[in-house]
Amino acid sequence: MDTQQFIPNSLQNKITKTSFTWKTPSNIALVKYWGKTEPQIPKNASISFTLSNSHTITTIDFTKKSNSEADNKINFELFFEGKKKEDFKPKIAKFFERILEYCPYLTTYTMVIHSENSFPHSSGIASSASGMSAIAMCLMSLEKSLSSIELTNEFINKKASFLARLGSGSASRSIEGPLVVWGNHPDIKGSSDVFGVPFPYEVHEVFKNYHDAILLVDKGEKQVSSTVGHDLMHNHPFATQRFDQANENLAKISKILQNGEIDSFINLVESEALSLHAMMLTSTPYFILMKPNTLEIINAIWRYRDKTGSKVCFTLDAGANVHVLYPANETETIAQFIDNELSKFCQKNHYICDIVGLGAVNI
Ligand code: DP6
Repeated sequence: MDTQQFIPNSLQNKITKTSFTWKTPSNIALVKYWGKTEPQIPKNASISFTLSNSHTITTIDFTKKSNSEADNKINFELFFEGKKKEDFKPKIAKFFERILEYCPYLTTYTMVIHSENSFPHSSGIASSASGMSAIAMCLMSLEKSLSSIELTNEFINKKASFLARLGSGSASRSIEGPLVVWGNHPDIKGSSDVFGVPFPYEVHEVFKNYHDAILLVDKGEKQVSSTVGHDLMHNHPFATQRFDQANENLAKISKILQNGEIDSFINLVESEALSLHAMMLTSTPYFILMKPNTLEIINAIWRYRDKTGSKVCFTLDAGANVHVLYPANETETIAQFIDNELSKFCQKNHYICDIVGLGAVNI
């Protein structure tokens, strides 16, 4: 894979002070990424809906170091929701180290990062996806200003996805929308292990403006991070079968998204969610991220579907929360279903109504 294309060779140090703000969304995987090798190369291809309301807003102020300050270090301060956040710094410092080769300007400036999320962090909503993609977009805005050649939006998005991936794999799918594939797959034209690409085929009407109500079963910190979970796929007894299954599911969902077979969509998406959690149940050490209320919600969705013929379904991330997915024509009935039968299983009855979106926005 040609990663050389991401090393800039026509930068000018013409800017002393500048600032960029980006709003980037979270995403919800339909076929899951779970298992990777260095450097952040996925073991299988994945696809996600880009979300809208679950997002991160990040501003980075860049100030050029004076000659006396010039060093080869990456210097930044981090504020999360207005407060200095030392415990988030190591992950971002590691991210900056990893991308320095592709963003040499990181040592030329001191950076002040202000970030805020529209949702609780470490709750199973991919805060690393929106967080890392927002930083990547801010860096690409700086790169665009410094570059003596015109950078196309296509290149900016591709490199932002490439950079974001090096911070968090799923972040590669949070630059564009409404559907993004990450991971090389023979059925997806242009797909790559090193960046996400928008799903390249025409999507059936029924999958446009899809809704995702995120039921917050557990807003606390996860007991096992995704990073640890990915690691446990090394030497996992079912790893090979899982990676094959995911790639097969990606081929299937590509067709389903085009032909609008919603019952097949429901089957595949729910099976993916349960297969992901089955990997957790069968790793060494084993762990369970679902909570009793996760199962209550799943069962209630199945009963409701049986009773009403609704096309609602669920998926799960690496956490206890349930993503309730449904087509736009069921918006009102599902809102009632959630209020009457599902919100009681959420912490403080709290859920987030989200809808598929188009990706990063400069603000
Ligand atoms: C279950 O992208 O959070 O959400 O690359 O280690 O940062 P790192 O992992 P991360 O893993 C996401 C896993 C998942 C499935 C998915 O989004 O595809």
